[in-house]
Amino acid sequence: MKLIEVTDHEEMSSIASSYISNRVRKNSHLNLGLATGGTPKRTYELLINDYKNNGTSYSYVTTFNLDEYIGLPKEDVNSYHYYMNQHLFKYINIDQKRIFIPDGLSQNIELECKEYEERINAHGGIDLQLLGIGANGHIGFNEPGTSFQSDTHVVELTPSTRIANARFFDFIENVPTHAVTMGIASIMASKEILLLVSGEEKSQALKRLLSADDPTESFPASILKTHPCVTIIADTKALKDLNQIKASPTNHMI
Ligand code: PGA
Repeated sequence: MKLIEVTDHEEMSSIASSYISNRVRKNSHLNLGLATGGTPKRTYELLINDYKNNGTSYSYVTTFNLDEYIGLPKEDVNSYHYYMNQHLFKYINIDQKRIFIPDGLSQNIELECKEYEERINAHGGIDLQLLGIGANGHIGFNEPGTSFQSDTHVVELTPSTRIANARFFDFIENVPTHAVTMGIASIMASKEILLLVSGEEKSQALKRLLSADDPTESFPASILKTHPCVTIIADTKALKDLNQIKASPTNHMI
């Protein structure tokens, strides 16, 4: 894994957006895996700026989102369909037919999971997957204990994840209890992974990831250590606990 240490959320977002737009410019047919949550919002804003200022084209890019809540309509302000549209898609020239997000309202959710996985594979797999990390080490909505062999599947969200995400809802009771997520194996099949880590509340998770010896299903992100092409961009607050155990902040391989 390569670690890029940055000062703050803004610098993280700036480097991440350049990283992604460079990939899009190099490969107009890029299969891009996308994430939601607080971490990538600014990255998406900067991608929109880049689109407006530099004309980076998304017309042949295909996107696959990591996850979606079960039970929220696409128009719900807390659905990830809504998030992606509001924070990125409606501002760039992406083809609606090339946008894929799990359907959390599917009548046959097991079939939806199977078909989502097949869709990714039919497109030749994900070239670059953007990832965040949960304070409990989840990636996508793959909570601790998820099998490393998992494909796209239904998950029951842990209380800690529901509490973390309650900030976007009026009441914690409104946070869905279940979601569809790409599995750990689906994420690991991506050719390249870009993990963004920002803020003090992620510092323990980042420390655990970077200091883990062997991957363990009790800490899902630990599997990333076995992926051949992972870049982490982490800010000073997220690196707080790590910098106590290593000497010099710089860009380095771990
Ligand atoms: P966040 O979520 O970006 O809102 O912190 C990341 C995650 O839970 O994967």
